[in-house]
Amino acid sequence: MQYQSQLVAKPYFIAAIALFIGQIVFGLIIGTQYVVGDFLFPEIPFNVARMVHTNLLVVWLLFGFMGAAYYLVPEESERELYSPKLAIITFWVFLITGALTIIGYLAVPYATLAAITGNDILPTMGREFLEQPLITKVGIVLVVVSLLYNITMTTLTGRKTSITIILLIGLWGLAFFWLFAFYNPENLVLDKYYWWWVIHLWVEGVWELIMAALLAFILIKVTGVDREVIDKWMYVIIALALATGIIGTGHHYYWIGTPSYWQWWGSIFSALEPIPFFAMTLFAFSMVNRRRRDHPNKIATLWALGTAVTAFLGAGVWGFMHTLAPVNYYTHGSQITSAHGHLAFYGAYVMVVLAIISYAMPIMRGRVANSPQAQRWETWAFWMMTVSMVAITLLLTGAGVMQVWLQRMGDTPMSFMATQAELSIFYWLRLVGGGVFFIGLIVYVISFFIKGDVEHITVDEKIKKEKENVTAEEKFKREVALVPNDDKFQKES
Ligand code: HEM
Ligand code: HEM
Ligand SMILES: [Fe+2]
Repeated sequence: MQYQSQLVAKPYFIAAIALFIGQIVFGLIIGTQYVVGDFLFPEIPFNVARMVHTNLLVVWLLFGFMGAAYYLVPEESERELYSPKLAIITFWVFLITGALTIIGYLAVPYATLAAITGNDILPTMGREFLEQPLITKVGIVLVVVSLLYNITMTTLTGRKTSITIILLIGLWGLAFFWLFAFYNPENLVLDKYYWWWVIHLWVEGVWELIMAALLAFILIKVTGVDREVIDKWMYVIIALALATGIIGTGHHYYWIGTPSYWQWWGSIFSALEPIPFFAMTLFAFSMVNRRRRDHPNKIATLWALGTAVTAFLGAGVWGFMHTLAPVNYYTHGSQITSAHGHLAFYGAYVMVVLAIISYAMPIMRGRVANSPQAQRWETWAFWMMTVSMVAITLLLTGAGVMQVWLQRMGDTPMSFMATQAELSIFYWLRLVGGGVFFIGLIVYVISFFIKGDVEHITVDEKIKKEKENVTAEEKFKREVALVPNDDKFQKES
């Protein structure tokens, strides 16, 4: 680790993984309730467990983004974090707020929670993903403002790189669009209209900048490729993301009472949204192919490549599938939406957070990379989680296609519940997929405790040592392949 204050990222990453486990446990609960309707009823009703599942997802991803910011901003800025103490206080505020909210969801009926947390002062509750009580929403504002203050001050007084600038724009954008969580117009059309300013403009707008910045940071570190090359890619990617994603919001405005021109705007712009995701895939592979060092942290590289591919599949391919208005007319709000939601969130944001944790955590624990044994466990975890998530996606897609066919097409469409009964085999298999995913996650956690033979030296030291041990001829070959430090080094000759 180059700067002591980077260590504040560690509790953020640990909390992220703990909440991730919680998210999946609740995913399994609702997955079971899909096939055994009264499972855990009335203790944990479906709507409550679903809310816990999705809210934990968003909160742990935010923990991951914040940890990533606190880790990489000092290193990029070449100075200590502006205030490590503030970052730690912020961590506890966020953790306690998050924990109390989840306890609130589980302990009291939602209406009671709304009544005791001041929802009548400023009604913000009751919308998907934005179910949090007013005080939690305010808490999130404070936490994010504190993060922004801390990392902006660090960046302003240190070296400015494209990575930190893009990360900062992404995080400022995240904070800005969060403010629409407080705006809840009476008019249902306007309510839905602005709701997407949080949901869509997060995942298909500013979060993409955060993803690009994290990916670029990891790729620079593990490949040693020159910064200039990476910068060019990043600017192209974020320009494409914003050019398509902002007006692409229109793909949610087809049937909510907004003017019909949105069917054109939404279809055309959102159809182009896969392009930045595809650019990210090309970017990651091109960097790894022209790598100038063989970083011992293989699994971090695998996560980075994995996120680039899976994000393209989940967001790009599965998003495109139902984004054109004439298709969405049939598929809107079906299991196809859920299939896409799962693979896109997993591929883009879950995997990029796991990639940065995989890269940074060993360093914060005093080693360049985990032992080969530990990496083998993590590699298993990678494949178990990724393959089972792809399986879940395919099953939900199958369920979705049948659902649309039986319930929304033909002369004698079936009712919603009669259709669902026909789909139970898909839901059973999805539950099996969820079980494998959960085992993969446990294997992932175990990988942190696998010791094995670790090297307690930095990459640069390792490269130096290797160089001392080779013959002149080999030495020449390696000079070309191994670059001591990405930042101080020459361009490709
Ligand atoms: C990583 C990026 C993305 C994430 C995390 C994501 C996630 C989601 C989620 C969770 C929903 C369901 C929202 C709800 O509860 O109603 C959704 C809906 C949708 N997404 Fe994405 N998405 C991403 C990118 C994309 C892209 C690139 C496209 C288009 C190419 C797309 C097209 C759609 C469409 C059309 C819907 C509405 C489906 C409906 O009408 O039911 N998404 N997305
Ligand atoms: C990291 C992995 C996961 C991510 C990113 C994720 C994400 C999401 C998201 C965004 C939603 C809300 C939108 C929607 O309805 O699709 C959701 C709902 C749901 N998830 Fe997950 N999830 C994950 C894992 C799981 C697992 C392992 C299961 C268990 C089988 C599961 C079961 C469900 C169910 C049943 C719903 C509710 C769908 C509905 O309302 O009809 N999820 N999840
Ligand atoms: Fe969208």
